[in-house]
Amino acid sequence: MSRFDLLLVDVHLATMQAGGAPYGALRDGAVGIADDRIAWIGRRVDLPRDIPATQTVGCGGAWLTPGLVDCHTHIVYAGNRAGEFERRLNGASYADIAREGGGINATVRATRAADERELAAQSMPRMAALAGEGVTTIEVKSGYGLETAAELKQLRVARELSAELGIAVRTTLLAAHAVPPEFAGRADDYVDYVCGDTIPAAARACVADAVDAFCEGIGFTPAQTRRVLAAARAHGLPVKLHADQLSDTGGAGLAAAASALSADHLEYTNDEGVAAMAEAGTVAVLLPGAFYALRETRVPPVAALRRRGVPMAVASDCNPGTSPVTSLLLMVNMACTLFGLTPEEALAGVTANAARALGLADRGTLAPGLRADLACWAIAEPAELAYRIGGNPNVGAVRAGRIAHWSVG
Ligand code: NIG
Ligand code: FE
Repeated sequence: MSRFDLLLVDVHLATMQAGGAPYGALRDGAVGIADDRIAWIGRRVDLPRDIPATQTVGCGGAWLTPGLVDCHTHIVYAGNRAGEFERRLNGASYADIAREGGGINATVRATRAADERELAAQSMPRMAALAGEGVTTIEVKSGYGLETAAELKQLRVARELSAELGIAVRTTLLAAHAVPPEFAGRADDYVDYVCGDTIPAAARACVADAVDAFCEGIGFTPAQTRRVLAAARAHGLPVKLHADQLSDTGGAGLAAAASALSADHLEYTNDEGVAAMAEAGTVAVLLPGAFYALRETRVPPVAALRRRGVPMAVASDCNPGTSPVTSLLLMVNMACTLFGLTPEEALAGVTANAARALGLADRGTLAPGLRADLACWAIAEPAELAYRIGGNPNVGAVRAGRIAHWSVG
């Protein structure tokens, strides 16, 4: 390289590169950025002196991490379900409410009724809240349309918001989220429709980066889920799965057999499922927000995932029913306090492993050649990102090489 467009100095680095110091940490570092990539990273004293920089920015001794990646959200939706929250506190269960036509289908009614502008306007503050916490890539699922046009509408809105907010978005088609009212009692017919109409339409319109399904007693059976994942694969789309959240349906093994990028939730996953995920290289996405909001008591098999070397990601699951969460840092904290991850594991869960859960090899750690997505933090050590509850130590973000917000020093 002949010059840096941006050079960040007076900074400590949590590169999240494995194999070295905890957090891949490097004190008194510097990062040189050219175009949208990291061109040079290392200790300040080793910075080549002969490369000029268009802009040099001092970070006042702050820490830089990879831009955070929220790899599982349902953030584009209309309305809210505070009333159901109240009902659950009065004794109704999530499954009871779903069976009565509430739950996911309540949000489906509101989302179908909203036009694209309205949907974008309601979703924007949620996405902006995540972006303001150093999140530079967000996965967004559909699943509140449950008919082809409305599913595609959600995915288009996600991409519009990406352009408007300047953050990267990966879209996931989750048409197999619930059986819509028109297909009540005919789940197999709805699966035919998803496989024969919605998935092909999403593939044709190039609006989905992956396909997901809800394999659960109140969702789809393993046989139905297999059909959805097979249709996705036939259209060249990678797959993910909501697996074993409320019961053990063998979801983790099913995801692994479909070479899924990730299997998500996993509270009820058994050892066989964990072994299959390890074999397939499927990432475990842990969602402490939903666990907490549903007041679940069964935790995902973290020790087994760790023992078998399954990469663990952590995400917000931002959705109106089970995880009305717009703070990824709070999820980092909860992954530690509720699920027993170490702060380093939890931070890897929202950086390196979250990128992997999306199949993105160009981000998630700090290294030469990777996309220059960075978050800057007013903290004294990386564990502070997991330790705090509330407050926001994010003081800056660089997205694809450009300073997005910056109030450092
Ligand atoms: O990830 N598990 C299914 N889907 C969401 C809940 C969606 C909703 O209740 O609106 C989840 O928890
Ligand atoms: Fe989810």
